[in-house]
Amino acid sequence: MTKCILATGGAGYIGSHTTVELLRAGHSVVILDNFENSARDALASIPKIAGGGKIWLAEGDVRNARLVADVIQRHSVDAVIHFAGKKAVGESVADPLLYYHDNITGALSVLSAMRGTGCKRLVFSSSATVYGDVKMLPIPETAPTCSSNPYGRTKLMIEEIIDDFVASTDDFGALSLRYFNPVGAHPSGFIGESPIGTPNNLFPFIAQTAAGMRDMVQIFGNDYETRDGTGSRDYIHVVDLARGHVAAVEHLLSQTTNILPHRKVNLGTGKGHTVLEVLNTFSKVCGFQIPHRIVPRRPGDVGLSLADPSLAFGLFNWRAELGLDEMCRDHWRFQAATNEPRGRRRTRLGAEARWANRVWEDFESLGIAEGRNALA
Ligand code: WQD
Repeated sequence: MTKCILATGGAGYIGSHTTVELLRAGHSVVILDNFENSARDALASIPKIAGGGKIWLAEGDVRNARLVADVIQRHSVDAVIHFAGKKAVGESVADPLLYYHDNITGALSVLSAMRGTGCKRLVFSSSATVYGDVKMLPIPETAPTCSSNPYGRTKLMIEEIIDDFVASTDDFGALSLRYFNPVGAHPSGFIGESPIGTPNNLFPFIAQTAAGMRDMVQIFGNDYETRDGTGSRDYIHVVDLARGHVAAVEHLLSQTTNILPHRKVNLGTGKGHTVLEVLNTFSKVCGFQIPHRIVPRRPGDVGLSLADPSLAFGLFNWRAELGLDEMCRDHWRFQAATNEPRGRRRTRLGAEARWANRVWEDFESLGIAEGRNALA
C-alpha cells in the first residue's frame, strides 16, 4: 500500500522522524512547514537516512487553508498527519491567546482543507498532557481529561473538534495519538531534538549538561512516591513514536467501509523511569557522572505519569520496542554530532576529535557510509 501522506510540521522533531519511517514503509511524503520551530537542515538528512523515497517540501503556514488544500490537491494526498503547532507548556501559560489562536486555527485550517478536497484520513498529534494529574496508573484512554495548561487544553479542544467533524460525516476516519514523553533521536545522529534556548525537558537538559553546555542538572524534587523519590515518566523513543504514526495512518487507510469513530490512542511504553534512573543511564552511556543536585519540586509537575498502551496494540498492532538505554544512547549521539566544538567550551569528553570519531564510527556500524560526508 503506497500512499501519499501530508505531514504538517513534518520538519519538526517528531515530524522528521515520522517522515523517515513513512519513506521506509514505501510511502511518499509532502512536508508542509514554516520552519518557525524546526530546522531546514534536518530535511537534507531525511532521504539519506530513509535510503531514498519521494519527499516534497511545501514551505508555508498551516493556518492558510487554501495553501493546505492546494498541497493536498497538487500531490493527491491520501492522508494527513497534523503535527504543526506550538508545544511549550510554559510558553502557553505566559501567552495563552497565542496558543489558542495558532493551534486551534491550524487544526481548523487542516480540517476545512481536507473537507474541501475530499481527503478523508487524519492522524492528529495529541498529548498525554490532556490527562492532567491522574491518580489511576497506568492511564487508559478512558481516564478523565482535564489539562492544567493552555497547551494541553488546545490539544483537548482539537480532539473535540475532530469528534464533532467526524460525527458530521460518514466516511472520514481520524485517530488522535496521545504522546507520553518523546525522547531520543534517530540512531544515525543526523536528526533529533534541538530545543531553542534553555531546554525545559529533562532529556535535552541532561544531554546539554553532558556536552558541557550547562553546569548542572537540577532534579525537581525527591519526595514523590516513586522508587527513589524523583519524578517518574513514561519516556518513549521518538523512533518508536514515529513507527506508531505509520501504523496508525496505515490502519486508517485500510478502512474502506464501516469507518470507525474518532479514537484517541496512547503512545507510550507502559514502563516508568525516574529522573535519577535516566540520569544514571545517561552517565553510563556517555562514560562519566553527570553533575546534578536536588532542588524543590517544579510547580505544576505531577509525580508519576504512565501510559496504558494496550489500545494501540489492539487497534493497529503497535507497541514500543526501544528501551531507556537506546533512548539515552541515541540522544547522546545526536548531541555529540550537533554540538559545534568551535567556540563552545570543551566537553567533559575532552578533545572534540574523539567525539567526531565516536559519532562516525557509529555511522559506519549502522551502514550509513556517507555519514562522514554528510557531516563534513
Ligand atoms: C520530566 C521529569 C520533571 C527537567 C512534558 C511537557 C510536554 C509534553 C511531555 C508534549 C519530571 C523532571 C525535568 C529538569 C527535572 N510533550 N525534570 N529537571 O514534565 O512530563 O512535561 O511532557 O505534549 O513537553 O508537558 O516532561 O521532561 O519536563 O520532565 O528534574 O531540568 O523530569 O520534574 O519529573 P514533563 P519534562
